[in-house]
Parts: sequence; structure tokens; C-alpha cells
Amino acid sequence: MKHIVQQEYSVNKTKRNRRNGHGSFLIWFTGLSGSGKSTIANAVEAQLVQQGIHTYTLDGDNVRKGLNANLTFSPEDRAENIRRIAEVSHLMIDAGLVVLAAFVSPYAKDRETIQKIVGYTNYVEIFINTPLEECERRDVKGLYAKARAGEIKNFTGIDAPYEAPVAPHVQIDTMKVPVASAVKQILKAIENKLDIQ
Ligand code: ADX
Repeated sequence: MKHIVQQEYSVNKTKRNRRNGHGSFLIWFTGLSGSGKSTIANAVEAQLVQQGIHTYTLDGDNVRKGLNANLTFSPEDRAENIRRIAEVSHLMIDAGLVVLAAFVSPYAKDRETIQKIVGYTNYVEIFINTPLEECERRDVKGLYAKARAGEIKNFTGIDAPYEAPVAPHVQIDTMKVPVASAVKQILKAIENKLDIQ
């Protein structure tokens, strides 16, 4: 950025991590609408808080009501949605939090952007892999029925793509794995990142 000079503050991420007694990073949940991202993120956060970890959860449905209320579901707006969330996550990581983010985030390119923004080592990708048929069968929010009826356009899985991650850190097959074991797998995967570097 022209005419912008980065300012250094004496209280930095390292100091905050030391004060909190744990590392800070981003746990990113991707998957179809209704796949179980929020449910699993919620359960992981509850466990972390019980361990005395400082956390915050960002959720697509919530953030789109406020910060990102001006964005649609076009590919360009989804990219902007994810970019802003990655920037917010970056700030929260700097603030010393373990950030959980549950967004459909259907494009591989946008998930790559997140890693560039927060730093590759601060990013843990969790693919909540629930088949479309199952998400549609559950249809918790009634949105798949609306998308099939043509009342919602660009709905992920119906008339907009979902590019499944090729190398997520953790993949949860929700048809086979109950929430409690999903939480265990995820906690195991982040163990080393919780340690102060
Ligand atoms: S993302 O694609 O930009 O990452 P995000 O996670 O913020 O999506 O929001 C997805 C949520 O918005 C879904 O869980 C669903 O409740 C709702 N939604 C509304 N319209 C759409 C749509 N066209 N495609 C996907 N989700 C939609």
C-alpha cells in the first residue's frame, strides 16, 4: 500500500500467546451448507474453552448478517466474503485467539487466499465431508428445497460448484463419525499448535 507504513507495537502476538499460555491460529471448517460445520466447530470450541483456551468463532450465516451484509453468493462476492474473514481471522490470531471459522468456502482459490493472509502455519483445514444427498435430506434450514424450486440461485451443490479440498489436515465423514470423535480428531490435529512456539 502506497503511503502506508506498518507500525510496530511492543505488545505483539508472542507476548499475548505467552500471557494466554497457548498459541493462536485458525481452524477453518469447509463443507456444503448443512454438512455440520457449525455443529462441529461449536463442539470443538466448547472443549477448548473448557481447557482454558481463548477462542472466537466466525460463522457464515452470522457474519453475513453484519460485516458482510452487502455480499451476495456470486463467485466474486464469495471471494470477498472469504478474504474479509481471513483478514479478521488474521487480526484475531494476532490478538492471541484460537479462531474457528465455519464457511462453505467452495472455491479452492479462495481457501488458498486465506492461507496467504493468515500464514500457512497458522491455518488448519477441516473438511466436513457430508454428501450432497445427505445435506439435502437433512435440509435443516429448508434452503435446498428452495434452491431446487428455483427460489434461490447459485446455491452450492445445486447450481453452484463445491470444490472439495484435496489435502485437508482433517477430513470428517459425518455419515460414519459421531460429533464426539470428530472433536477428538480435530483436537489431536491442533495439539502442537496450542503449545507456545
Ligand atoms: S460462502 O460460500 O461465501 O463461504 P457462507 O459460508 O458465507 O458461504 O454462507 C453460507 C450459508 O448461507 C449457508 O449455510 C446457507 O445457510 C446460506 N446460503 C444462502 N444462499 C446460499 C447460496 N446461494 N449458496 C450457499 N449458501 C447459501
